[in-house]
Amino acid sequence: MERPARILVVEDSPTQALQLRHALEKAGFGVECVASAEAALDSLNRGLPDLLATDYRLPGMLGDELCRKIRMNVNTRGLPILMLTSEREGQIERHVLESGADDYVPKSEDIDFVLLRIQALLRKSHAQQVVFGGAPFSAARLLVVEDSPTYLKLLAGELQQDGYAITMATTGAEALERLSLQAFDGVVLDLVLPDMGAVEMCRRLVESRRTLDHAYLILALSASATRETMTSVLAAGADDVVEKSRNFAVIKARLRALLRRQRLHEENRRIAEEFRKRELEVLRANARREAAEARAAMTGQLERANRELKDAQSQLVQSAKMASLGQLVAGIAHEINNPLAFVMNHHGTVEQSLQALVTELEAGLSDASRRSWSKARQRLRDIRNGLERIEDLVLKLRTFSRLDEGEHKYVKIEESIESVLALLQHRMKDRITVKRSYGDVKVVPCYPGPLNQVLMNLLSNAIDAIDGEGQITITTGPRGSMFFISVADTGKGIPPEHRERIFEPFFTTKAVGQGTGLGLSISYGIVQRHRGTIEVRSEEGKGTEMIVKLPLGPETTAVTEASP
Ligand SMILES: Nc1ncnc2c1ncn2[C@@H]1O[C@H](COP(=O)(O)OP(=O)(O)OP(=O)(O)O)[C@@H](O)[C@H]1O
Ligand SMILES: [Mg+2]
Repeated sequence: MERPARILVVEDSPTQALQLRHALEKAGFGVECVASAEAALDSLNRGLPDLLATDYRLPGMLGDELCRKIRMNVNTRGLPILMLTSEREGQIERHVLESGADDYVPKSEDIDFVLLRIQALLRKSHAQQVVFGGAPFSAARLLVVEDSPTYLKLLAGELQQDGYAITMATTGAEALERLSLQAFDGVVLDLVLPDMGAVEMCRRLVESRRTLDHAYLILALSASATRETMTSVLAAGADDVVEKSRNFAVIKARLRALLRRQRLHEENRRIAEEFRKRELEVLRANARREAAEARAAMTGQLERANRELKDAQSQLVQSAKMASLGQLVAGIAHEINNPLAFVMNHHGTVEQSLQALVTELEAGLSDASRRSWSKARQRLRDIRNGLERIEDLVLKLRTFSRLDEGEHKYVKIEESIESVLALLQHRMKDRITVKRSYGDVKVVPCYPGPLNQVLMNLLSNAIDAIDGEGQITITTGPRGSMFFISVADTGKGIPPEHRERIFEPFFTTKAVGQGTGLGLSISYGIVQRHRGTIEVRSEEGKGTEMIVKLPLGPETTAVTEASP
């Protein structure tokens, strides 16, 4: 539930105040009644109501002056004010509204009408009650300095009636001491003091004021305000000089004006200070934000650099691995090739020589010898088979070990695939069958060494994925302007949560020593270098298909086996 709106009623007639209080409380408002404008300001110091309803005709300060004071203070500027006027004031509407009241109602109107106006004002009110600190209307503290006790008492009494807090002093020295002990808003000073000349006193006051952060105003009272006294006193630092007389109204009016100016000045200073503080806060917040942004950017850069380093490192490791493997394979192929050629040659010679002797020899053999003879010839044929298989393997090893990485050239892709399969044969043995389905285009532009590396990685992964028996299907062929190589296995598949990560360097699900986690990241890099793509399709428990697509040069689309 909302709290009831609080209304401050300023009314000096107790009966009228009581009537209004009853009516307002009945309508559900919280009410505080005070009998004078001074008491109202006092109440505003303690806290702001939601609305102020004030009588115009008040004992000390009038309703319009109260309004002006409220409007001139930043903290109370938004407070809605309803002025109550008695009929005697007649055409006072303009005057009241100019003083800052939001509305006025003649007291003769019945109470329901007054309530309606109050409700309307409360609805309209956007009372933004920004309080910059401190009480908005604390009673001004005055130090009155006067050597004549009678006049001092009279003046102090008058000023007290206006709501000022008065401290009295009878000599200049006493006044200066009080000022050093206590803060004042103003000093009302008789120019003729027993212990100090007027100009000297003003000068010392101004000096003491300079050391304080709360400046007080100086109003000088002069028995005979000659032009000279006035000029010299004003020059010495007094804010105003008034002729000392029994007509206190003039003194009071000048004092009010001076205090009002000082209050405004003080408020401006406070507001400026507040703005400066807020500006500083904004600057600080900006600086903090910029620092955070810089930190974030730096972290981003570091992360990127780190990733790039990791990529570069993995490329290096893998290409070093492949290069040494290639060299090793090439060396072995070369070493086997020489004796192989020699054995194959001699095997041919032996076969031919025996062939020439067949008829002659077979005629004179016993049955047992003939069986051995035919077994020996069969073994010789078997040896030829074995030698051809070695020859084939050596060829594949040489195809695999092409180290001409830098060169982009046309390659018979089937040969590359077969050479890789030959190297991996021992890991498949009889448990994995390989199905080949090679398409029309057989010759593809690529970097042969690195592409072999890709095939090796894909096929190794497929073999690793199959526990026990299974099948690997290799499909190739053109698809639009691309050439695709698909390696599909019937292995365990890739769980969805790993699919995003398999191309990351060093991501592996294999045991330490079994996988480095570099195969796919390297393959990805190589395919990118070919301006190709690599796609994954996988179903857990069923298998995985990796599809590499490489661009075919315009001339290649038509190139087939027949025209290499
Ligand atoms: N055909 C596939 N079936 C199932 N999982 C696969 C397949 N291919 C790759 N993966 C998964 O992706 C991971 C990363 O593969 P990648 O080839 O990059 O590294 P690796 O095979 O673990 O190690 P390395 O290739 O260096 O020996 C593998 O550990 C595996 O979990
Ligand atoms: Mg691998």
